[in-house]
Amino acid sequence: MKYIIGNWKMNMLPNEILNYLMEYTELVKDVENISIILAVPYISIFYANNFVQDTNVQIAVQNISAYKKGAYTGDISAEMVNSFGIKYSIIGHSERRTHFFETDEIINEKVKRAVENRIVPIICVGETEEIKEEGKTLEFVKTQIDKAIKDVDFKEVENEIIIAYEPVWAIGTGKSCDSDYAKKVTSYIKEKLEARFENAKISVLYGGSVTSFNIKEFLEVESISGVLVGGASLNVDEFAKITKA
Ligand code: PGA
Repeated sequence: MKYIIGNWKMNMLPNEILNYLMEYTELVKDVENISIILAVPYISIFYANNFVQDTNVQIAVQNISAYKKGAYTGDISAEMVNSFGIKYSIIGHSERRTHFFETDEIINEKVKRAVENRIVPIICVGETEEIKEEGKTLEFVKTQIDKAIKDVDFKEVENEIIIAYEPVWAIGTGKSCDSDYAKKVTSYIKEKLEARFENAKISVLYGGSVTSFNIKEFLEVESISGVLVGGASLNVDEFAKITKA
């Protein structure tokens, strides 16, 4: 399965989202055989998810709590998300790691909460510029993945494993990764996971400054099963172009 995932981050007001969805679902209604997913801000998931019923678009969340339930003011649990019929959550985005101090251990808990509630985690990994310069990218992302999926049983989500390789230096910078480099990292991730999980459906996505101009480069790489798009997903025409590519 190929994935086109938009990550709106903390952008778009509820009314803007409905206008966007009205236009977007019309523009991409003939697109088949790919999973089109929009990770919208929490405040809009209820309306957005109602709106996309009977379309080829699915709604995801951008984060979930590491805890099951209880006295965690401001947090939203995987069980609550599941009760809306939402099937995907981004987990471990570099912005969560940087601005909200999420460690690999916290991310591992979140992955567990997601899977327990039949939500497929879209697990984000990726190195900083410094780690890249040191030539340590592969071991770094391998460690991030190993820690994120420690003791996780993917059976609950029908053995679906999604990793988004998003080099931190490419996120929101306009400086996308060159496709040979993305190929090297994504094929390495895929190989390692295939060796470890025999019957799993493993998808490795690329994210970081993807636009309608460079999307084809990434989709030509065999080990890349789709893209996670931030900035360029906020413009409905641009994201429709990316989706159709
Ligand atoms: P970007 O963000 O496309 O704006 O670089 C990607 C992401 O953060 O998922």
